[in-house]
Amino acid sequence: MLILGLQGSPRKKGNTHDLLAMFADEARKSGVRMEIVDVPQIDITPCKGCFFCEKKGMCITKDDAMNASVFPLIRQADIIVTAAPIYFYNVPGQLKNLIDRTQTLWARKYRFKLTDPGRPWRKGFLLSVGATRGKNLFEGVHLTMKYFYDAVGADYNPDDCLSYRRIEHRGDMRKHDTVINDVQEALQTLIKPFVNRKRVLFACLENACRSQMACAFAQYYAGDRLEAFSAGSLPAAAINPLMVTVMQEKGIDMAYRFPQSIDTVIASKAPEMIVTMGCDEDCAFTSGAKINKWNVDDPAGQDISFMRRVRDEIETRVEVMINRL
Ligand SMILES: Cc1cc2nc3c(=O)[nH]c(=O)nc-3n(C[C@H](O)[C@H](O)[C@H](O)COP(=O)(O)O)c2cc1C
Repeated sequence: MLILGLQGSPRKKGNTHDLLAMFADEARKSGVRMEIVDVPQIDITPCKGCFFCEKKGMCITKDDAMNASVFPLIRQADIIVTAAPIYFYNVPGQLKNLIDRTQTLWARKYRFKLTDPGRPWRKGFLLSVGATRGKNLFEGVHLTMKYFYDAVGADYNPDDCLSYRRIEHRGDMRKHDTVINDVQEALQTLIKPFVNRKRVLFACLENACRSQMACAFAQYYAGDRLEAFSAGSLPAAAINPLMVTVMQEKGIDMAYRFPQSIDTVIASKAPEMIVTMGCDEDCAFTSGAKINKWNVDDPAGQDISFMRRVRDEIETRVEVMINRL
């Protein structure tokens, strides 16, 4: 399981930072992997409003932190926690830059009608602090979060989130009476649907076609019961564009996915089951996981009809696997 934390305050070691750090401590104690992006410290070019993403499905700005890390992390995350101080009834500008750039994900969803395989199960959450005590203090940020989480593909319920009034000076958040209990409770509620999933690794040679498709179908159909990963014994530099096309024909979005090596994935995820597709001789599995061998032809270098046939065969195999769970 992965929780992505978006730290949105430009003040170093301020209240937002402390609140998110308390959340991350609890996540670690529960054995959950949490990656924090310190948004004001990374390079994010503001949206240019050029509508390139609505025509092409990709942002015209390619060389900043969004493509390099933020989009891939959003797509991998089971839970996204946005942490933000209130600035003029909304989030600070640095975080708003990141939010505006997710218009690309909005375009892929609504203009291109594509579904990110993690979308059906992903949760969005907010941690927020403000100095005053106004009744409507968090109204603006909740609206922004509602549409941000819709664009990135996550369920968001403002009533479940944690927000604190009268938090102004450095250290105020840490002194709050109930914060530790609040954070513990919120974390346990958030992770509950994800903790007992079976961890399955789909492996092939290059992690460019077969294992990527199997992983995406497993996430899409059964992300509530399976934690699916994919990897290759000889990972390619990028996923196969023809594979991306045939998955788009099924409405499934493979953007921001990259080949990874089996050793790296096994070391960090400890799968309970490994499904292999053509990498048996090259795979030295030491994890003690149950191995399931699928005899699926390698579509690398073949034409689109071959790729479609392999896609459909993998989809059927994944459905059978899920039904047996
Ligand atoms: C530019 C700016 C705008 C702010 N606007 C508001 C506001 O509209 N309402 C409010 O209650 N607090 C406002 N604050 C106060 C912060 O929300 C508050 O001090 C918070 O604890 C800061 O969190 P941090 O330590 O994580 O940066 C503002 C602070 C700044 C610097």
